Amino acid sequence: MNHLIIACDHGAWELKKALVEHAQIDLQLEVRDLGVNGPDSVDYPGYAAQLCQRILRGEAKRGVLLCGTGLGMTMAANRFKGIRAALCHDEYTARMSRRHNDANVLVLGGRVLGPRVAMGILDVWLAEPFDGGRHQRRIDVLDALG
Ligand code: RB5
Repeated sequence: MNHLIIACDHGAWELKKALVEHAQIDLQLEVRDLGVNGPDSVDYPGYAAQLCQRILRGEAKRGVLLCGTGLGMTMAANRFKGIRAALCHDEYTARMSRRHNDANVLVLGGRVLGPRVAMGILDVWLAEPFDGGRHQRRIDVLDALG
């Protein structure tokens, strides 16, 4: 993956800034940053929708959403059929969200994680492949739920 799409609300704009810089400088990724870029209060569902619609249109394979806890963004993103958004607090959940769940959206909490931990989670999440097999069968069942 050489292209990262990312969005947040005001609860995580500073963490997003740190992750954008990490992605551009350390990982040499092209970043499409959908905002926000300051502390003024916004409503997270609209930002989740913008990012998820771009993924579903094929503009990016995977993306990253952030809000204060990560909970609201996770709930909003998972309303979109075809989006599998995973709220991750550590490298283990990030790894398993890729290997078992083929998560196409990583969600992080700006008021939960420090920048170094978040960078480690992002690195793992970007690198891990999907295991397929029985996990694909379970995703097919998930998709059939509605
Ligand atoms: C904003 O205060 C906060 O509610 C939001 O960032 C997020 O944590 C919601 O789930």
